[in-house]
Amino acid sequence: MDFLAKPGGSLSGTLRVPGDKSISHRSIMLGALAEGTTRVEGFLEGEDALATLNAFRAMGVSIQGPEQGCVTIEGVGLHGLKPPAGELYVGNSGTSMRLLAGLLAGQDFSVTMTGDASLSQRPMERVAKPLRLMGVEVQTEAGGRPPLTIKNNAGLKAIDYVLPMASAQVKSCVLLAGLYAEGKTSVTEPAPTRDHTERMLNGFGYAVTVQGATASVEGGGKLTAMAIDVPADISSAAFFMVAASIAPGSDITLIHVGINPTRIGVINILKLMGADISLLNERDIGGEPVADIRVRSADLKGIHIPEQQVPLAIDEFPVLFIAAACAEGKTVLTGAEELRVKESDRIQAMADGLNTLGVNAEATADGIVIEGGDYGGGTVNSHHDHRIAMAFAVAALRASAPITIEGCDNVATSFPNFVELASTAGLQLEQC
Ligand code: S3P
Repeated sequence: MDFLAKPGGSLSGTLRVPGDKSISHRSIMLGALAEGTTRVEGFLEGEDALATLNAFRAMGVSIQGPEQGCVTIEGVGLHGLKPPAGELYVGNSGTSMRLLAGLLAGQDFSVTMTGDASLSQRPMERVAKPLRLMGVEVQTEAGGRPPLTIKNNAGLKAIDYVLPMASAQVKSCVLLAGLYAEGKTSVTEPAPTRDHTERMLNGFGYAVTVQGATASVEGGGKLTAMAIDVPADISSAAFFMVAASIAPGSDITLIHVGINPTRIGVINILKLMGADISLLNERDIGGEPVADIRVRSADLKGIHIPEQQVPLAIDEFPVLFIAAACAEGKTVLTGAEELRVKESDRIQAMADGLNTLGVNAEATADGIVIEGGDYGGGTVNSHHDHRIAMAFAVAALRASAPITIEGCDNVATSFPNFVELASTAGLQLEQC
């Protein structure tokens, strides 16, 4: 399926984007392993979070829903999962594969996980390595790619692991395996990354201690069921933040958005570029900070993006590059080599698409340099990456001709109603 995005338009209104993908995954995982019944509201009914949900159903967990964002999970306890009948297929979802790897390391059965063409190319050695140190037998294809097979032959050893890259998925994998290890498992990260696992474990009554850059869990505890209200996903809201910033005459409010400090790089970076963004009605929902976000159009300027913001905005760069294309002057991104191993090589995919539109964008090994200015339309390839597809839909607001975006099916992994919501807000977007 392709998108046809017509040029021009402005955004207005009050919008609620779907639930946070990271928190939705974790709500199923911890709810399934808790004792008691966990009720989740605001769950993301996207393919990625559903892949996690189906994996737990395949391991014998009774889950009702999702129905209008509500899911009820009958927890089986940390030791209550059953071996699945076959391989677990997790589609496009790196979060499912990497976090499940940690949990599966603690089971007394072996499991193989597979994924789609994109996930099958993504690096899994980053989770295999610490799990092997914990005593788990882990098999991958050549180059550390999926399928990923996890076999726990004996008990798990606790480890102190220093992450070689800033990755919340790897951190979470090790912490989740640590629930099953004997003793204290610690993970130290080179830069702060999203801490939803730590927050949610604490919410389920499982103590995670955090000291500086190190998070630790003691094995052998238990999780107690809780109610979860999943905030709207700031990574999905980001498309509308950039859209309203670049389309003249826009004024929108995005409601109930998660503003966890480890996720707000997109707000920090857009503000540095001169965006007009205000946080309203800030509140705490079940251990996660939430706010309504008002965005009005503004004249953006190019910046050198501070490297410490990179992990805090890691999923938002495709659309931030569109903001850079509409800004006055040059935007420089460095220290972002992780973007090359996301659902696509996001540096190359965005540089190629921007060049097609006539934007002067140059990929570098660990980032990109983008010269802002006027641009046209054309046909760009999303490489089946949801965030590349949505970023180029936003780009049309300032293009002088239509943009056709190829391969947009995977938008449903994180934002199933994107076309409808974007059209309501003021984008001229069609599926074709
Ligand atoms: C995620 C962590 C990030 C992010 C991904 C979701 C998570 O990946 O890009 O979309 O839910 O933990 P990395 O851990 O690879 O940085």
